[in-house]
Amino acid sequence: MSEHSPCLILGVTGSIAAYKSLDLIRRLDGEGVSVHVVATRNALPFFPLMPAEIFSGHPVETELFGTGARPQDGRGRVPHLALLERADAVLVAPASADFIARMALGLADDLLSTLLLSAMVPVLIAPAMEEAMYRHPASQTHRKTLLDRGIREIPPEAGSLASGKTGLGRMASVDRILEILLPLLWKSPPAHGSLSGLRVLVSTGPTLEPLDSVRYIGNRSSGRMGQALARAALARGAQVTVVSGPTSLPPLPGTDHHPVTTAREMEDRLRSLFPSHQLLIMAAAVSDYRPKDPVAGKRKKDGREWTLSLLENADILKGLSAMKKPGQFLVGFAAESSLDPASLLEKCRNKGVDLLVANDISRSDIGFSSPENEVTLITPAGEFRILPLADKSVIAGQILDAITATGWPNLS
Ligand code: CTP
Repeated sequence: MSEHSPCLILGVTGSIAAYKSLDLIRRLDGEGVSVHVVATRNALPFFPLMPAEIFSGHPVETELFGTGARPQDGRGRVPHLALLERADAVLVAPASADFIARMALGLADDLLSTLLLSAMVPVLIAPAMEEAMYRHPASQTHRKTLLDRGIREIPPEAGSLASGKTGLGRMASVDRILEILLPLLWKSPPAHGSLSGLRVLVSTGPTLEPLDSVRYIGNRSSGRMGQALARAALARGAQVTVVSGPTSLPPLPGTDHHPVTTAREMEDRLRSLFPSHQLLIMAAAVSDYRPKDPVAGKRKKDGREWTLSLLENADILKGLSAMKKPGQFLVGFAAESSLDPASLLEKCRNKGVDLLVANDISRSDIGFSSPENEVTLITPAGEFRILPLADKSVIAGQILDAITATGWPNLS
């Protein structure tokens, strides 16, 4: 993580949902965010400190004037001010009913509450509590006080609660928290990230090939891997353009987003955008075939078989690699039902890419709709490297780091 990565102070308070904060830290780390955790005393029974320190790479701070938080420069500043100096935002997740009340009252009797009184950066809370506590007039009054002060709430969700009951009060999912938090942290992309000053083009999602005006041939790509790569490139300071087939994901804030539907639309858009970008990551699952004679309107049933003829779509990536100019770097993906090294190397060379990222689509725990992936990186020189099973955001960061580790871009 560079010294220019966005920096978040994550406050963890006394709620069973604190276990989810571990996953949040891991995901944020994968997104290139530097996370400093401050836990309240009430959080400690619920929150495993050692994994939190390993995932965040920083000590978990708990004491207002304790030994855990020494300013890096030894200038002897009090911990809450030293932590705040680098922070781009503070998120309290989970925020217990008690802690929300203490924030509303402006108490300052521990590190997290004191730090929040001095915070000049955006503050967010992700409440977690039983439904009755959340709906209690006292909690609602405290909550409203915080919202009136400009503090943003990531609302709790309905589901099973610690009491065994079902209702409103679960801390928002990690995905939901990231969706709200990350655009805030990336408002000003890092000026000195490993990709700063570079334009990165990412293709993502499936392409859909119409059979008639309502039916199509498609595939199961969710677009998550491409989205994670676009995020990771933003976090490294790149200007990012995304060409996306239809997915359920919202366009990523901070990117130049181009929605397309068919392989031919994707090809046209990529061919016009490619010359102005230095790095192309072709993560889209392009349909290899399209119906030869799509029907205008909706085809009516007529009691007979419907025989389809399919035409092969152009290989977009191969066409782009033929247009490649010096200084441009191309990354292709390979969806394979078995990872045979010889055919992977052949695909890498045949496509003319600088790096091929291979997925094993026969495994049910990774790929398409899974949040996790495990991939093999292949270079045209025949180097192979496995990136072991991890969240797609973590894998995305590792792919970008592998690209810059090749020595590209050589700007000297
Ligand atoms: N790709 C492309 N245009 C196509 C098909 C694939 O640009 N018509 C790109 C994909 O985006 C990916 C890479 O080529 O980056 C490899 O895709 P993959 O589906 O693994 O390979 P195919 O070229 O389709 O070959 P095959 O399915 O026969 O192995």
